[in-house]
Amino acid sequence: MRNQIVAGNWKMNNNTPETELLLDNLMQHVIRDDVSVYVAPAFTQLSQSVEKLKGHAITVAAQNMNAAASGAHTGEISSSMLIGTEVHTVILGHSERRSLYGETNDSLKLKVSSAIDAGMKIIFCFGEELSERKENKHFDLVKKQLASALFELPSDAWNQIILAYEPVWAIGTGETASPKQAQEMHAFIRQQIENQYDKSLADHVSILYGGSVKPSNAKEIFSMTDVDGGLIGGASLKAEDFMDIVNAF
Ligand code: 13P
Repeated sequence: MRNQIVAGNWKMNNNTPETELLLDNLMQHVIRDDVSVYVAPAFTQLSQSVEKLKGHAITVAAQNMNAAASGAHTGEISSSMLIGTEVHTVILGHSERRSLYGETNDSLKLKVSSAIDAGMKIIFCFGEELSERKENKHFDLVKKQLASALFELPSDAWNQIILAYEPVWAIGTGETASPKQAQEMHAFIRQQIENQYDKSLADHVSILYGGSVKPSNAKEIFSMTDVDGGLIGGASLKAEDFMDIVNAF
C-alpha cells in the first residue's frame, strides 16, 4: 500500500503570530495514523514550526532550497541549513518557482540531486499550463518534466521522492482538474515510472494532486486509484479546511 499524504504549502503566508495560531489550531486535531501530514511554512517560520510541532504527527517541510552546498548565493538556503533546523523535507519545482523565479528542468535536476545526496525527502512538483493542455501537449510536457529532473536517479533514491502533479491552470484559480483528468494523468505518470524503472517501484511512489483542492472536492479526487493525496495551497491556511481534507480519504 502506498503512503497517503496531505501537504499544506503555505507559500508566502503566515508570519510569526499567524504561524503560532494556525499550528495551535491544527494541533487540536487528532492526526490519523494512515495519512502523513506535512506543512511547509516560509523559511523564517521553519524553526518556530519545528519547535512547536515536536512530538506531534505533523512534519515540517521547506518550500525550496538551493542546489549548492554553500557560497555566494545571496538570499538562498542550502540543504545543510534546512537539516540544521531539523527540516528533512523540501518542496522542489513548484510552478510558481518555475514561472516567477526562472527554475527550469535543468536547474531542478541539480536541486533534486543535491537534496537526495543530503538525505532529504522531496515533494517534486510539475504540471502543464492551460495552453499546453489545450494543445494536447500535457502528457509530453509532464513526461519531459519528470524525465529531465528525476529519471537519471538510481532506483533507491525514489524512497525519497513524493510526486505532486499540479496543473498550473488549477492552482489558486478555483478550477480543479476533474477526478477523471487527475486519474488519467496520475496513471500516465505511474506508467512512465514503470517504463523507466519497474512496476514495483512505480507502485510504491506516492503521487499527490494539487490545484484548488478543497474540503468539498477532496474526497472524490482522493478516491481515484492513482491519487495518493494532495498538495494544498489556499485551503491549508485554515486549520478546519486542511483537516477536513486530511480526513477526506
Ligand atoms: P491552491 O490549493 O491554492 O490551488 O494551490 C495549490 C498549490 O500550488 C499547492 O502547492
